[in-house]
Parts: sequence; structure tokens; C-alpha cells
Amino acid sequence: MSGTSNLDKISQGRLSYNWALKSMKIISKITEKYEKRKPLAGLDLAFCLHITKETSVLIMAARKLGGNIILCSANPLSVQSDILEFLKDNEIIVHAKTKMNEKEYLENIKKVLNTNPDLITDDGSTMHLYCHKMGSKNVIGGTEETTSGINRLQVLDTKKLLKYPIIGVNNAYTKYLFDNRYGTGQSTIDGILRTTNIFIPGKNFIILGYGWVGKGISSCLRGLGAQVTVIEVNPIRALEAYMDGYIVSRIEEVADKGDFFITCTGQKNVLRKEHIDRMKDGVFIANAGHFDVEIDLRYIKQQDKNPIIVRPNVDSYNINGKTVNLLSKGRVLNLVGGEGHSPEVMSLSFGNQLLSILYIIENHKKMQNHLYPVPKNIDNTIAKYALEAFGIEIDNPTKEQLDYHNEVNIQI
Ligand code: ADE
Repeated sequence: MSGTSNLDKISQGRLSYNWALKSMKIISKITEKYEKRKPLAGLDLAFCLHITKETSVLIMAARKLGGNIILCSANPLSVQSDILEFLKDNEIIVHAKTKMNEKEYLENIKKVLNTNPDLITDDGSTMHLYCHKMGSKNVIGGTEETTSGINRLQVLDTKKLLKYPIIGVNNAYTKYLFDNRYGTGQSTIDGILRTTNIFIPGKNFIILGYGWVGKGISSCLRGLGAQVTVIEVNPIRALEAYMDGYIVSRIEEVADKGDFFITCTGQKNVLRKEHIDRMKDGVFIANAGHFDVEIDLRYIKQQDKNPIIVRPNVDSYNINGKTVNLLSKGRVLNLVGGEGHSPEVMSLSFGNQLLSILYIIENHKKMQNHLYPVPKNIDNTIAKYALEAFGIEIDNPTKEQLDYHNEVNIQI
């Protein structure tokens, strides 16, 4: 957190941790349930996550369940300095610093792997990939947080190259429906406002990609009065965007019309020379996907070697005499320009992580070296805990309804 208080970093980090903890009731509930049993005792757990206040809640919970934790960052620019100091003060081994270059960031992932962990929890699968390259030795299993990470693991799984079982946490309903959609929707707006403080109503936003992240961002922007155009290559998603009421178009059609472009496709170079050259003077471009590959950064950097850093996380490039404002260096805007998702929604995602870790520890001997979905009962448990946390009660089906559901109700 940027924090304007004059508290020292560790005290600020402790306040931020406690602030998040209060809203992450699912994690507290799981911790209370398992704390006495210490199911993670004797295990070295590697985590490669954005080092945020929400992550500190997961890390401290895993420690309370008995785990030895070794942590590094899932992005060179997403480390919150107060949390970093707070975790170190709590004797968590952290290989990270606040602003790393690409090399330092990758070196830190390797340092964590060199400790030969028993289990890996990753965000983006860079650690999983390095582990496969370097040799997995002790690893009994792992988990993965994101769509982008799961895409990478799916390739390995199809080629039968996975060396340990991995649970794809991203694909739980209680993860992507809420975190990817509402979490990223809201935190991307936060990233836009913190970096630019622009006025959103009436602005012409072009959203590239209509997966769960694209849906969340589009809907939040529309709620704030923006005009939203969606660009999609998938015909079903494009149709969905159209029926959700957005303008659906081709990037060539709108490259010179957008005030603000946001990529969230998981694909490479979706914004490139032929689009950037035609953009309006003063345009904003940002990425909301996990990797900084969606905007052709090489092209932008070649055009202007000395961009003006007009504000934190806003680099103004002069391209053919026009100003192109690149936000958060093309890295994931909500975590680099903002603070990431709010604790309430990370409670669901990290609740899935924690229960999936416990599942692997209990079941890894029966599992193959495959990519697994989050077990249904974990997904349902997280939904129940979330409803409880929000104070929402729901009905149960009657016995008659359960019987009706289980009968064949057709008179033959
Ligand atoms: N991914 C998105 N938001 C996050 C957060 N607040 N903490 C950790 N990972 C995140």
C-alpha cells in the first residue's frame, strides 16, 4: 500500500494484514477448522503469488496449519512493500523486493525452487514451468490460480509432460465467476482511476477479450457511463457480448476511435503497430491480462526511447508526433496500478487454494500427473462459507422435491 501514514513499514503491513483478515472470513473459517490438526506440519510450501495484503492472509493461515512457507512474487511490480516487511517480520521466507526487473523476478522464483519444496501454489504457472525444467524432486503436487497459468499447464498435460498433479483453482465456479469477473472488473477500474484519475462517463473504451475478465471490466465501465466496444475472435463470446448489449466490432474499425484500450485476451500482440499508429492523440492503453505480452511493447519502446513518466504508472510515448499513454508498463493494471482485488473476493479464491492444498496432501498418492479441476465439494463448501460470511441464508429443497428430482417423471 502506498500509505500516507508515518507508521513504519512493518506496523503498516500488520494493519493492512488485519484489515484484509477481517474481510476474509472463509480463510478464518478454514483456519479454525484445521488449526489444531496442523495438516501442513513438516511440509515446505512454495507460493508464487502477488504479494498483497490478501496474500498475506493466505500465507499466515497456511503457517497456522503448520506449513513452512517460502514465498516469491508472481509479478516483478506487484509486491506491496508494507506486506513484504510484515511477512519477513513474521519469519516467512520471502524472495522478493518491491520493484524488480525481469531477471531478479525470475531469479527469485529459482531461489524458492532451490529449497526443494513439497508443494507449489502458483499464479501464472511460471514457477510450475521452472520446476519442470529444473527437476521437481520433492514436489507431491501443486495448484494454479489463473486462466493464463492453466492454459500453459493444459499444453503440458496434453503432451503428458506434467511431473506432478496440479489442481486448476481458476476453474472452480467460486473462483472465476467472482474473482475473474467482479474482482478484476472492480480492481481494474481502481487501477484506471489511481493511475490516470480520468473522467469515465462518455469515454469510448475498447475492451479486447470477452472472457470472464473482459465481461467484468465491460460491465463495471458501463455502470460508470462509459461507451464500451468489445473486440473478440471467439464467435460465441462475440455473440454473448452483442446480446449483453455492447457494440462488437473489429479492432481495425475502432483503432482511431477509442479513448482507452484494455487488453484481456491472454493472447500475444493483440494491440500492435497497425493499431497503435492510428490511435488518437492522448490515448490510454492498458493490459488486464496476467502477462505483459498483449500489447506490442517492443514497437512502442522502439518509437520513443525516452517516454515521459507523467505520473506513477503512466508513461507517455511520442509516436509519430502523437502521445500514447501506456499504463503500468503494460503489466496487469489492477495489481501494478492498483491494489489488486478486494479481500472479500480473494477470500473465495484463496479459500479454494487452501482447501485444494489440503486435498492434494491427503490424496496425492491416488492422483496421476494431470491437471485436475477443483473437487465439486470444495467449490460448494466455498460457496456455503461465502454465503455465511455475507449473512445470506438460502432454502433447502423439500423431501418431495428431492424425490421428484430423482424420479423419472414421464408416464410411458
Ligand atoms: N490477484 C488479483 N488480486 C489479487 C490480490 N489482491 N492478491 C493476490 N492476488 C491477486
